[in-house]
Amino acid sequence: MIDHTDSSGTARVRLKPADRDSIAEAASILSAGGLVAFPTETVYGLGADARNDHAIARVYAIKNRPRFNPLIVHFADAEAAAREALFDQAAEEAATAFWPGPLTLVLARRPNSMLSRLVSAGLETIALRVPDHQIAQALMRAANLPIAAPSANRAGMISPTLARHVAEGLGGAVDLILDGGQCPIGLESTVIDLTGSRPVLLRPGGLDAEKISSVLGPFDQGDPAAPIRSPGQLSRHYAPRHPLRLNAQSPSPTEAFLTFGPNPPAGGALRLDLSPSGDTVEAAANLFALLHEADRANISGIAVMPVPDEGLGPAINDRLRRAAAPADTAIPAT
Ligand code: TXA
Ligand code: MG
Repeated sequence: MIDHTDSSGTARVRLKPADRDSIAEAASILSAGGLVAFPTETVYGLGADARNDHAIARVYAIKNRPRFNPLIVHFADAEAAAREALFDQAAEEAATAFWPGPLTLVLARRPNSMLSRLVSAGLETIALRVPDHQIAQALMRAANLPIAAPSANRAGMISPTLARHVAEGLGGAVDLILDGGQCPIGLESTVIDLTGSRPVLLRPGGLDAEKISSVLGPFDQGDPAAPIRSPGQLSRHYAPRHPLRLNAQSPSPTEAFLTFGPNPPAGGALRLDLSPSGDTVEAAANLFALLHEADRANISGIAVMPVPDEGLGPAINDRLRRAAAPADTAIPAT
């Protein structure tokens, strides 16, 4: 086991060769809400319990992404994946042909799914994948959890294909790094969206798109009139049904009030606390779940207190601005 302080001299890097004991330890770290970096056949992933909002918020914080770009959820097999998302015939064919393997399917989330709302950044879809790697498989079976895992690098850096890359990039921010040697493919999974009538290629990757077409038929080449489905461009896709009012100092009697920090002003039809302690990681963990809760309530709109632009604040504010965007910028939901 390598255990030393990283270059900043603060957090200790914990890196262990993947074996029975370290995989069992990694599984209990995940179950307790911690973060584990682990190898897959594509790249190393930064894993967290996909049902735990706080663990997912920590993933976003460590990756330092400027936006909540939704994460891929990893499953031990297609049966486990089918408990969280709706598989139509095309999805079943893709799963049969290519899982386990470097293919990620974007499918509709089941209404009763237990997955964190933050993992899919508030979307009604989920990205799912069954990795073809012995250590990833052993970890998922030991933890008995769906594992959300973006590539284990900070935003804007290259994806790690060795445990050493993870240690250098993320240092002691991860609770444990499982070293399983080099990732055989070394390129992220191919991501396809199967929620429309034809498959859409969202990200080319480790599985050749032509092989996918030979099973599913041609990809949608993009009708200029068709809605854009790449997550960064989904300006209204993340929006709640009710109008959103940003930087609100106090709510009207019929508004839900999304608060940040201690002792928020009184009033409103419903108070929903993003973070009483004023912590942006906690606020991120609660954001989508609270927006959904507000949307189910009988209110005229949602007033949101200012959230500071520090920590996960920029990502929260980006998402709130999109949610508040005027309806004429709407991109129809697909
Ligand atoms: O090979 C891989 O896919 C690696 C390993 C660790 O499995 N993971 C990975 O995750 O590359 P990440 O988070 O770096 O990339 C996730 C990609 C992003 O392009 C994201 O936009 C897309 O998947 N994505 C995730 N959920 C989505 C959704 N609901 N709709 C559309 N795109 C989604
Ligand atoms: Mg990545």
